[in-house]
This record gives sequence, structure tokens and C-alpha cells, in this order.
Amino acid sequence: MKDAIAKLKAEIRERITALENGADPEAFRIAYLGKKGAVTDLFKQMGAVSPEERPEMGRLLNELRTMAEDALAAHREKGVPRRSGAAVDLTLPGRELPVGGKHPLTIVREEIKAIFNRLGFTVADGPEVESDYLNFEALNIPKLHPARDMQDTLYISEELVLRTHTSPVQIRTMQRQKPPIRIIAPGRVYRRDTPDASHSPCFQQVEGLCVDEGISMADLKAVLSVFAREMFGGDRKVRFRPSFFPFTEPSAEMDIWWESDKGGRWLEIMGCGMVNPRVLEEVGIDPRRYSGYAFGMGIDRIAMLTYGLSDIRLFFENDMRFLEQLR
Ligand code: PHE
Repeated sequence: MKDAIAKLKAEIRERITALENGADPEAFRIAYLGKKGAVTDLFKQMGAVSPEERPEMGRLLNELRTMAEDALAAHREKGVPRRSGAAVDLTLPGRELPVGGKHPLTIVREEIKAIFNRLGFTVADGPEVESDYLNFEALNIPKLHPARDMQDTLYISEELVLRTHTSPVQIRTMQRQKPPIRIIAPGRVYRRDTPDASHSPCFQQVEGLCVDEGISMADLKAVLSVFAREMFGGDRKVRFRPSFFPFTEPSAEMDIWWESDKGGRWLEIMGCGMVNPRVLEEVGIDPRRYSGYAFGMGIDRIAMLTYGLSDIRLFFENDMRFLEQLR
């Protein structure tokens, strides 16, 4: 009898640990304290125990029963939910699974693409490692010309560069396809800049090109004004300011009016202009018959404006606390 009690005690100890780890308390109760439970069973055998041994066995058995009862009571107090089906609370909200989100630059790039798609532009693509000829020379930027300083880049070899803009995609398109042409070229570009709040050696651009018969500066202004309104809001004021690019003539910068509590100011958002006839000639398009316009903007800059950010480096640091806010 004494051995049986000791054995049962060890077993109950183990079951109590299981109980603490979430085992079913009702099964525990039935197994030991129920009508046919192991402890109850031993009580029933007390009749067969000799009168001398009976007091001690009684005390040991009572101890065992108390141990099991206490464990059950402690379990109930902790309020551990019962695992039986009826106790499941179907009104509790589901567990939220962490899902990925798009990077803010991707969101803005897709929005820019969607606007130009609606205006009839298709997307063209090109390599990030580009020939010196397509990145510079075909765009009327000869070797050793000071205009290269504006976009000093990283050279792979004499003839290969990391593209400084997506303009070479425009050249590739015109080499392949005759007008009418309407494309945008989104993608990564590289410049030899030291990173700071407003510079990054790698950033993203969307450039655009439209070439057809009878295209004028009025078309450029109309399309880019519509873009600015779609991107930044319905009554957005824009202005075009004379500028210089070797591949466009005349050239301009487009500014948008940015309202703020300090009154507002003009912000430059892209370069643009009429495609320089020398560029058309270079790709074998007759500039007496065709004309066109081109434009280019930095996606990072547009994204900083729309999200109100002051540091471009936020886009590259992969800080989840930042990224999670801009989904
Ligand atoms: N390629 C120019 C740049 O990266 C942008 C641009 C494109 C300007 C087309 C005018 C016309 O700075």
C-alpha cells in the first residue's frame, strides 16, 4: 500500500507540471479524484489495511488528495482557459499576422507610372551599367565637356559607366523604334555624390520622352501640368523656369508651389525641354519632320515631398520603425 501511494505521488507530481503547462484539468480531476480515480481507488482499499498501519496510510492518502485538489484549485485561480471546445471565445479578434509592405519608393514609383500610363506613355527599361556613348555622347555630352561635371559618375572602364540618368533608355528606344514614341523610363541611377540629407550616390528616376510630328512646348507644359495635379493635388500651381541641358533646347525646370504654414515656396521637381535636334539626328530621326519633348525627375525627391521627409537616407537604412509608418 505504502509503495502504491509513493508511486502515485510521483505520477501526480508529473501531471501537475503538465497541468501548469496547459494540460486539461478536467482529465486530471477524473484520473485521480473522480469516482474511479486512482486516489479514490486507494481509499477504497483502506479496508484491507491492517489496523496498525491504517492511521499512517490514512494520513498519506489524505496528503495525496490535498495535493491534487490544491493543484486543481491553483489552476482555476490563475484563470487558465479550459481547452474544451465550449470554452473557446469566438468573439475574440484574430491574431494579427505580420505581412510585408511595399517600400515607400516603390509606392511612389508605381503612382508616377500609373499617371503617365493614363496619359498614353508605356514603360521602357534599360541596363544600369551603360556605355559611355549612350549615357553621355549620344545625348550631346562629349568627352571632357564640362557638362559631365553635373553628373560625375562611377566608371567601370573607359567605355562603361553606372548610368547617371535613365536618358540612355530614351536613346535605346529611338534607335529601335520610329516615331510616334511615348515612353517613360523608371529606374536606378548613380552619381558620384557623398551621402548627406539630400544626396545619395544611388537614387531612382523617372524620365519621359515623346517624339512625333508637330510636338511643341505647349504639349510638354500640358502633360507635365496634368502630372503635377494628379500627383500633388487638383489646383497645384506650376511654373516653368529657363534652364540648361545639353540634350534639350530650349530647356526648363518645372517648379510646383508648395503651401506651408510659413507661407509657401516654389520647389523644383523636374528638368525638361524640347529634344535637341542633334540628339534626334544622332539616332537617325529627321528633326525637320519630327520634334519631341523630354523630362526627368527624381523619385526619391518626389517621395520626400509627398511624405514630408527631410532626409533621403531614410529610404536606404531599412529601419522597420520608419518603413512600417509609410505603407
Ligand atoms: N537627364 C536629366 C537629369 O538626370 C533630367 C532631364 C531629362 C532633363 C530630360 C531634361 C530632359 O538630370
